[in-house]
Amino acid sequence: MEKREQLYEGKAKRVFRTSEPDVYWVEYKDDATAFNGEKKGQIAGKGELNNRISSIFFTMLKERGIDNHFIRTLSATEQLVRQVRIIPIEVVVRNIAAGSLAKRLGFAEGTALKQPVVEFYYKNDELGDPLINYSHARVLGIADDADLTVLESIGLKVNEILKTYLAERNVILVDFKLEFGTTSDGNILLADEISPDTCRFWDMETKEKLDKDRFRRDLGGVEEAYQEMLRRLGGEMHV
Ligand code: TMP
Ligand code: ASP
Repeated sequence: MEKREQLYEGKAKRVFRTSEPDVYWVEYKDDATAFNGEKKGQIAGKGELNNRISSIFFTMLKERGIDNHFIRTLSATEQLVRQVRIIPIEVVVRNIAAGSLAKRLGFAEGTALKQPVVEFYYKNDELGDPLINYSHARVLGIADDADLTVLESIGLKVNEILKTYLAERNVILVDFKLEFGTTSDGNILLADEISPDTCRFWDMETKEKLDKDRFRRDLGGVEEAYQEMLRRLGGEMHV
């Protein structure tokens, strides 16, 4: 497998074409942003940590019946994935009120929600990723009702699997964001990454934050939190 030209550079990853038409080469970066790119920084070792953490989650999900784009790890910061066309929708699933939901609906952060909440956001930097519903997606022409039903149902399944898996590792899954793509044969496939950049993880006992909120809110100990998550998932650095 050969690495070919760069197709895309995002805030946290670069994507390259490969010699295989259906396979992309992803490189995870140490760059970190928040608030739609307004806050910028670097988290030392994040590229490696998120590459490893995401690989562990995608492998585990595949074993439990959730197909996804992950193929295999290439190096500390690189992995191979199946080529998809990303659907411009962020699917957020929440178990506990935090972040924008706590603010929008007036829940105190940490309030358990009586059922999981699923939200869709339109991935559009200029608009600041607005919250959208089924009819918004329809008029934007980005997904039809059947697609959104699939995204919601996979999101809820991933939530159940991740919640249980993390609870066994003394971590509360507060909320997380998923992205999906369309394969060349027209199927919807779970894609992007699952990492402390895209999830809220709290220690079960102390409720200490083990995710990107440490960066967003200037709490310190950012690298240590990501390292602790990798450790709890049984992963290792520099192997
Ligand atoms: P929020 O409370 O800020 O809406 O975030 C909900 C979840 O989605 C949280 O786990 C962080 C994740 N997220 C992303 O992965 N990317 C984003 O751009 C935002 C705003 C949130
Ligand atoms: N990834 C988003 C951004 O840069 C926001 C976030 O994760 O808070 O802006």
